Amino acid sequence: MQHLPVLLKEVLQYLDPKPGDFMIDGTVDGGGHAAAIMEKIMPGGMFFGVDWDKGMIAKRKAESRHGKNEIYIHGNYAELPAILKKEKLGKADGLLLDLGFSSEQLTHLGRGFSFGEASAREPLLMTYDDSRKPVAEILRERNEKELADIIFELGGERLSRRIAGAIKQAGKKHPIVTAGELAETVRGAVPKNYERGRIDPATRTFQALRIYANDELGNLKSVLENLGNILNIGGRAVIITFHSLEDRIVKQSFQTLAKESKITILTKKPIVPSREEIERNPRSRSAKLRAAIIS
Ligand SMILES: C[S@@+](CC[C@H](N)C(=O)[O-])C[C@H]1O[C@@H](n2cnc3c(N)ncnc32)[C@H](O)[C@@H]1O
Repeated sequence: MQHLPVLLKEVLQYLDPKPGDFMIDGTVDGGGHAAAIMEKIMPGGMFFGVDWDKGMIAKRKAESRHGKNEIYIHGNYAELPAILKKEKLGKADGLLLDLGFSSEQLTHLGRGFSFGEASAREPLLMTYDDSRKPVAEILRERNEKELADIIFELGGERLSRRIAGAIKQAGKKHPIVTAGELAETVRGAVPKNYERGRIDPATRTFQALRIYANDELGNLKSVLENLGNILNIGGRAVIITFHSLEDRIVKQSFQTLAKESKITILTKKPIVPSREEIERNPRSRSAKLRAAIIS
């Protein structure tokens, strides 16, 4: 499934890319936002795209149209200060982060991100990059209480204890190695009418394990602490989150940085998609955008 860029008009409004600017997209993926940003900064601008999924970076490189003014690096956006130094790129005028995973990754990556039928045989990795420990291994190594805590804290799953118990129990007979095996184990652990059928019972457990396996909250905290090492004074940071824990981290970091006079917050309240956008692209429904300028 093709990934539709979320809050595209709002991203351009708050990032405000201008001809000649140096813009970083730290989660470039299918390049939806990237294409719109490049249209504004070229000719003469510099676009730098980063993604932790090396397949996505290979695709972006293959489709690149602006020569040395459009560069891509496979890496973790949390390491942007070091990457910029190594590439001798200096600080940028704008940084976009559109967190989580894309529709394309969900359907094509083959790393077990999805609990859907089509992904049932995929290996249970759930990592963007091979440097991280696969979820199948995490399930083997962590004890029941640790798993329950992860599923509760990062998934908000109130049946976390039951689910963790079922995962450890199933693992005794035969280690859980595919996305389908994990999804079935979770479904088997919850009552029949779970959430009145509103969501698949595996939704929150998959979300929690993905966030944990990739240290998604740690990466976000780290990049927020380093905004001043990534952006010039007057440079803009635009961050789109899809999870209340992530949005809280952005909100609180921005508030702390604003108190220290390091940034000016541009979005008093988070910007959310319009009803029309949610209808067109249901995946956008939980998106929240916050933006700030380095001072
Ligand atoms: C929602 S998608 C971005 C979609 C993109 N803005 C577009 O319009 O096509 C999120 C991307 O972030 C990447 N990602 C997740 N964590 C990352 C990290 N720590 N560093 C770099 N990329 C990361 C994922 O691999 C995925 O490609």
